[in-house]
Amino acid sequence: MDQLQPQLQDRLARPLRDVRISVTDRCNFRCPYCMPAEFFGEHFHFLPREDLLQFEEITRLARFFVKLGAVKLRLTGGEPLMRQQIERLVAMLSGIEGVGDLALTTNGYLLPEKAPALKEAGLHRVTVSLDSLDDAVFRRMNGGKSSVERVLQGIQAAERAALTPIKINAVVQRGVNDHTLIDLARYCKDQGYILRLIEYMDVGNQNGWRMDQVLSADEMAARIDAVMPLEPIEANYQGEVALRFRYRDGGGELGMIASVTKPFCGSCTRLRLSPEGKLFTCLFGTHSTDLREPLRAGVTDADLESIVRGTWGQRADRYSEVRAQLKQPRSHKVEMHHIGG
Ligand code: GTP
Ligand code: 5AD
Ligand code: SF4
Ligand code: SF4
Repeated sequence: MDQLQPQLQDRLARPLRDVRISVTDRCNFRCPYCMPAEFFGEHFHFLPREDLLQFEEITRLARFFVKLGAVKLRLTGGEPLMRQQIERLVAMLSGIEGVGDLALTTNGYLLPEKAPALKEAGLHRVTVSLDSLDDAVFRRMNGGKSSVERVLQGIQAAERAALTPIKINAVVQRGVNDHTLIDLARYCKDQGYILRLIEYMDVGNQNGWRMDQVLSADEMAARIDAVMPLEPIEANYQGEVALRFRYRDGGGELGMIASVTKPFCGSCTRLRLSPEGKLFTCLFGTHSTDLREPLRAGVTDADLESIVRGTWGQRADRYSEVRAQLKQPRSHKVEMHHIGG
């Protein structure tokens, strides 16, 4: 960061630390809580290729984000491994000085073929989504697109490629997969993977979210603690999304992401870039700032920097904190598969 300039802050005094770059709005799964098949069917219009930011464009933007304070980049989608030659983008991003953490969130399906090339390109680690080890439950939660076995093969491929520490994300829905939590926790503990149990959120507009389907982080922790005793531990860094716990027997850690029952907007340092070059300052955003048009019109570095500074400087989002006071979830939000969680 430019030493002479004060650290960039938003209107709630939050710095920019973490950028999530979505590289495609497509996905080979149809998880009903994210991309329900009835809305995202054969005739759904995904972004045409020419609308996607090119890797050179993404890299130019990433350099600015790092210059303005970001230390962590995460690639997401949709399913980021569906973007052709994603490893080429990873190589370009890993070459940016100042990137302390370069991670990727994936459903794991394509990891068996992609893991070695991602590592080679400089990716540090992966987070793999896996909601249950029960095959019938898992298939229901991915729209019938994958077996558990296939994702486990992906996770093992990532482990062999040393894309570690490996984190496993599981969205927990009461009455859908909550009865399979303990098995998943035990498996991750045995394998040395860091499980992150995510409270089901009202992201996007199509998932029909209801509060009674949310299992709170407190309840998740209590259920696991009853079988495998837990104790809370300190966050790794300021603004970490997950509440961390460790197993009292020394068998590793897990995290709960309590964005519904314990919102963490006060320390939210995340900026999101959509596949077509829009900046979102909140996962539940309804507005965005387009960067593709200025990029393609030949914007100067100075003007680009001032657009990004201005967007972050104006930011006052704290949706998860205000949701509790809303009678019903906000409408017209950006879709989760578009900006990648
Ligand atoms: P680490 O870098 O490993 O700490 O991961 P992370 O905190 O960036 O988490 P990850 O990308 O694995 O996010 C896990 C899940 O937490 C996401 O998929 C979202 O469901 C949720 N999440 C992440 N960031 C936010 C956020 O800013 N707001 C809300 N409400 N939820 C978020
Ligand atoms: N609530 C919570 N997490 C979600 N994810 C997708 N949709 C939701 C939702 N409605 C998670 C996925 C993945 C990450 C990208 O976001 O499971 O781990
Ligand atoms: Fe695809 Fe992930 Fe959304 Fe599931 S949660 S549909 S795997 S982007
Ligand atoms: Fe950040 Fe918005 Fe999530 Fe709050 S709701 S933590 S402001 S992304």
